[in-house]
Amino acid sequence: MIDVRQLKEAVKAGKEEYSRIRREFHRIPELGMEEVETTEMICRYLERMGVVPHHLEPSGAFAYIGPEMGFTIALRADIDGLPVTEETGVKYASVHPGRMHACGHDGHIAGLLGAAEILKQREEKLSVRVKLIFQPSEENTLGAAHILAQGVLSDVDVIFGLHLFSDMKTGDVSIEAGPRMAQTDRFSITFEGKGGHAGKPHQCVDATVMAADFVMSVQSIVSREVDPADSAVVTIGSLHSGSQYNVIAGTAQAEGTCRSFREETALRLKEAVEARAEHIAAYYGGKADITYHYGSHPPLVNDASLTACIAPEAERFLERKLCHVPPLMLGEDFSWYQTKVPGVFAFVGCGDPEKECFPNHHPCFAIDERALADAVLLHLSAVSAAEKLAEKEAKTDV
Ligand code: NI
Repeated sequence: MIDVRQLKEAVKAGKEEYSRIRREFHRIPELGMEEVETTEMICRYLERMGVVPHHLEPSGAFAYIGPEMGFTIALRADIDGLPVTEETGVKYASVHPGRMHACGHDGHIAGLLGAAEILKQREEKLSVRVKLIFQPSEENTLGAAHILAQGVLSDVDVIFGLHLFSDMKTGDVSIEAGPRMAQTDRFSITFEGKGGHAGKPHQCVDATVMAADFVMSVQSIVSREVDPADSAVVTIGSLHSGSQYNVIAGTAQAEGTCRSFREETALRLKEAVEARAEHIAAYYGGKADITYHYGSHPPLVNDASLTACIAPEAERFLERKLCHVPPLMLGEDFSWYQTKVPGVFAFVGCGDPEKECFPNHHPCFAIDERALADAVLLHLSAVSAAEKLAEKEAKTDV
């Protein structure tokens, strides 16, 4: 059984090192499925600690610490950057043009490596096996499903992960049961009409009018078709039509996303978007060509009994109370793991209360590096909770 006091001292001593590691990864952001340099650097760190890394295809890695078999907790960090041009002006800014760690995944890597080092040093005391998962490609929602298909969770009993958010202040941590992040669906619609002269609309079928009507129509889906006690979002993020002021557009494209927490609601949103696109196009005498990507990942739902084990342990390690954060309408492919084994995902504040904070994905996004120690402590607390859980299970087995 690992000792809390010793672990906390080790984390305190490691603080500067966590910042240094995070900055090293911050310099070399790579997009999903291209994290080759990042993976190599992670593996070098693991090897230096005496941990044997295993490569995932095409990028990412996993590794074990602790007993060779038995109850296993996976700790997951995502490792990809974003197609954003960094504007922070920091010395350790991205050296990859047009790429940035604008979502804090550099901090996730540093947090998991920090925890790995401490666990490795106390490996003989560990009563559960720890599987470290450095997951590629979270931002484009492909990574988790891709590595699940490689069997990465086949020997895992429970899983823990976390995300740094700059709109939560440093020190605030939320670990709550139930739906925490949304199912994210994506759609793309091409309205087809008949182009022609701006002065002869009666000879045309105006795709711009169809698309405009569609955009306004979907605004009432959430208010009129979703149970008011439930939550949902329909957003049109992109709209393109026409090229010239005096030409009626023959085609128009709208792209958007639907978010929700329940399958029933997600299906209702899909039906409503499709029906409105089809009916509006037909009403004007045109056609709608709809591509709807349903469920690129399911909603993120924290397992209630695992949350009940990890949350108090996290408070013990952090020496402070956890806070309440309402569910987020963002997506997170950690939810795929939760369809296989019980999983808990924590929201971790990294917004410096003394400074102006920019949101995740912003070109000026920055982490208050004091949050890295929280990330390390949370991983360690999850392992400690797993030890207690395994002990309890062993007793009930007898
Ligand atoms: Ni992220």
